[in-house]
Amino acid sequence: MIRVGVNGYGTIGKRVADAVAAQPDMELVGVTKASPDYGVEAASRRGYDLYAAVEDRVDEFAAAGVGLAGALGDLLDAVDVIVDCAPSGVGERNAPIYEAHDTRAVFQGGEDADVAEASFNARGRFEAARGADSVRVVSCNTTALSRLLAPLDETYGVEKARVTLVRRGGDPNETDRGPINDIVPDPATVPSHHGPDVNEILPDVTVDTAALRAPVTGMHTHSVNVTVETAPDPGAVRDLLADESRIFLVPEAAGIDGAGALKEYAADAGRPRGDLWENCVWEESISVTGRDLYLFQNVHQEADVVPENVDAIRAMASDVDAAESVARTNESLGVGLESRLGDGELARAELPADD
Ligand SMILES: NC(=O)c1ccc[n+]([C@@H]2O[C@H](COP(=O)([O-])OP(=O)(O)OC[C@H]3O[C@@H](n4cnc5c(N)ncnc54)[C@H](OP(=O)(O)O)[C@@H]3O)[C@@H](O)[C@H]2O)c1
Repeated sequence: MIRVGVNGYGTIGKRVADAVAAQPDMELVGVTKASPDYGVEAASRRGYDLYAAVEDRVDEFAAAGVGLAGALGDLLDAVDVIVDCAPSGVGERNAPIYEAHDTRAVFQGGEDADVAEASFNARGRFEAARGADSVRVVSCNTTALSRLLAPLDETYGVEKARVTLVRRGGDPNETDRGPINDIVPDPATVPSHHGPDVNEILPDVTVDTAALRAPVTGMHTHSVNVTVETAPDPGAVRDLLADESRIFLVPEAAGIDGAGALKEYAADAGRPRGDLWENCVWEESISVTGRDLYLFQNVHQEADVVPENVDAIRAMASDVDAAESVARTNESLGVGLESRLGDGELARAELPADD
């Protein structure tokens, strides 16, 4: 059993905690919070032991009547791996604390690459984390681009990828983020940090990225153009991407027309919190002109890095290989959406009529 703690029980931390708790080869020892707000109730309802992320805030929890199993140092001494899910930039400040307790650490994509020994994506760079003391799971956008570009490069050879990322302004619970009525180039210069970050995972792929922020909270949208070395057949590209367990081909027949319907589809499928762990590639958007491939994909920023965190833990603290780890993570979480509408399995004529 790999004993795991989660430091920071926010948007990413609460999802990583649930995913770790679902693994047969992992034990979730506990989670931390910086303040005793509503998030502590979610941890309590799930039976997770709660620790104070910041030692000198322990009294705030006592004053709020919230019981603690200890503070961060106690959690670090009880685990094999700590997953840092603190706000962007705080992970870097936490790194020396993890080192002082001799505890292996997984960081998130809000930190710079040099916070850890290796950047991680299960599809493109599993072995880089093998036995490492610190690993950074790349950001939601970089995770999605790595999952997409890795199979395209292996099969066709990527000459150059150009991606425009329309990023959600904030997560649904972030009342202070924006814009609320605009679309903002962010940054206005090219490349955004995503292209160089993809090269932390796929160093040989040439990719330029441009990014904007839009007044939505549900998902990011990527407009992707990849010039490949061998002219691809659109049907073969569809088959290639359909074979990737962490890519969901959104079938035209499903009538899903945007992020809102996608999130509803996930919730109807019984996904916790309506999470979409997979890249969502719009099947009918896969188009080819000569050696230029075009497509749109949506990325659920709160969810796609979650299975990658689980695999990063295994890569660091076990000898399980990439294929086995991904299979275990997918199986335990239920990663791998396949619509029953895509192949005619649920053709309209087969739906039961009211009469
Ligand atoms: N949200 C996304 O879309 C997304 C996607 C991919 C990657 N990431 C990355 O994941 C990381 C976490 O982001 P998030 O969106 O989950 O942030 P978040 O929702 O703001 O959650 C951060 C959590 O960290 C806790 N915290 C505050 N100070 C801390 C400290 N000093 N030590 C430990 N924990 C502390 C907070 O506690 P309280 O709740 O008590 O304040 C909160 O539970 C960032 O690096 C981010 O860039 C985020």
